[in-house]
Amino acid sequence: MRVRIRELSLGRDLNLRVGANLRTALIEAGIPLDSPCGGQGTCLKCKAQVSGVSGRFTDLEREKLSAEELRDGWRLACQVIVEAPGEARLPEIEVSRAKASFSLLGEEIPLQPNVYLRHFELSEPTISDQRADWNRTADYLEMSVPGPVRADLSTLREVSDRLREWNFQGEAVLVGDTVAALDPPDSARGALGVALDIGTTTLAAGLVDLDTGKVIALDAELNPQIVFGADVISRILYAQDSPEKRKKLQKELVKGLNQLLLRMCRIARRQRGRIFEATVVGNTTMLHSLLGLDTCHIALAPYVGVLNRALSVPAKELGFQIHPRGKVHILPAIASFVGADTVAVILATRLYQTRVSRLAIDIGTNGEVMLATRDGILTTSTAAGPAFEGGRIKFGMRATKGAISSFQATPSVDYTVIGSTVARGICGSGLIDLVAELFRVGILDRTGRMLLPSETGSSLAIELARRVRARGEEREFVVFRDEETEITLTQQDVRELQLAKGAIRAGIELLMKEANINTSDIQEVLLSGVFGNYINRERAVVLGLIPPFPVERIHFIGNGAMDGALRALINMEERRCADEVSAQVHHIELSGRADFEETFVRCLKLGVE
Ligand code: FES
Repeated sequence: MRVRIRELSLGRDLNLRVGANLRTALIEAGIPLDSPCGGQGTCLKCKAQVSGVSGRFTDLEREKLSAEELRDGWRLACQVIVEAPGEARLPEIEVSRAKASFSLLGEEIPLQPNVYLRHFELSEPTISDQRADWNRTADYLEMSVPGPVRADLSTLREVSDRLREWNFQGEAVLVGDTVAALDPPDSARGALGVALDIGTTTLAAGLVDLDTGKVIALDAELNPQIVFGADVISRILYAQDSPEKRKKLQKELVKGLNQLLLRMCRIARRQRGRIFEATVVGNTTMLHSLLGLDTCHIALAPYVGVLNRALSVPAKELGFQIHPRGKVHILPAIASFVGADTVAVILATRLYQTRVSRLAIDIGTNGEVMLATRDGILTTSTAAGPAFEGGRIKFGMRATKGAISSFQATPSVDYTVIGSTVARGICGSGLIDLVAELFRVGILDRTGRMLLPSETGSSLAIELARRVRARGEEREFVVFRDEETEITLTQQDVRELQLAKGAIRAGIELLMKEANINTSDIQEVLLSGVFGNYINRERAVVLGLIPPFPVERIHFIGNGAMDGALRALINMEERRCADEVSAQVHHIELSGRADFEETFVRCLKLGVE
């Protein structure tokens, strides 16, 4: 049986099955609903004001929602089972464009792409030269390309008409050894390529003119899969229910990528149909999801996916709206939780050529750590979780307008809000600053416990600790308050950040231990990732997110994964190098180590040395 539910924020009537989970049903109906915990009842972001639909609050809702929220009909959509007709009003989801941050690392990369143009000028057939039209074209092209040239059936179907229409002259666009398009002579349509970095939270893209090798547009967008869960595990759990759900995730992802490509082409005034190749990096789960592959074995020991090798597939098979004969090249991954994005960072940073010890950290929902020494490269993946992206933080939000992005404890509080507007929440860099500063002045102890004025020592701490409020066992620090709004940092938020930073720091510690080196041996620390760029280096050290390296040795490299994807797009040697890197890097699986637990627990402490 089905019942009618009116969704008020978009004004849509939905016909939902009785017994359906409201969050799942809304998402499947294409209504954006922020739910970073994937429906596990922990993020509290899926709130909806509901009337009718379902009469009973669950115990979890009674525990998590305030008395006012319960009175006003607020529910957690993930806890609501549809029973009767009614209405639901959703808060506005943040769909503004994610922050795009790119920096090519300054090296000149020769232009040797897989896509190239060749002019052809053929002799016309005669009685004494009866070569078939395609043979004639291929013979000509093979004079300037290594090896045989191919064409698919759809090209063969048009070749005779085109040659006669253009007096046996024109331009051929080749993708590898295959003619993907025939253009009229002197049409100068050119060829484009795109590099894509598919993050769990953010999709980033770089559009490249393959005639010149110039990046003509860079952009980023939220990964539309985010409504199915903020981390890869929630998405794997969603997809494992049925092949239809796996397909839905794939479609959503490709839809988001197509929208991003369309916007970039509009900005650059170029046609999407002239994109002949995409190089793709991302974590292993996202790459599986893009290909529509089963991800369920990735999440279960011994954590084995379908493939980690490089793969080239026809773009139309994936639903990419680029040239119909375009290709999508997916770079190789290293392991189930160390993806092609890590290979791309290694490519971009030249870690594989290093003569001194260098550490690279790609900070995202998954934190990948890479340690290069003379003996080779070690990598590992750490489950940092969504805290750095604002997930599972009471007033957490992404780094968009209204987010507190930096914080300083003076006798009062001093903070910066993105967009210089009224604070609406706290983003990852603000969260790191807040916790590091409260620890520095003594409002948080080493275990992360929030202290009341009577429990602190210094006068600055006592002054600031007046902002600490205790509600039963729960404590929270009031960052900002006016008549309408209040933003706090709760004890639970501090715990979430400790889990995230503890995971990354444990990864660093264990790689150093494996390589038998210590902090002073490491000559350079590279922070990669969109979020990594906004971290205050001193505070990251105070917090213990990274070991106490001298600040001048810590460098931001922007989106290293995007940089690597661009390299693989414009230079085939780089692409081959990516294959070698993925085969040579030694992956350390943390969960299988006897010393992981102890290291992780130690790294949970604030300011760990
Ligand atoms: S609490 Fe409902 S989706 Fe997270």
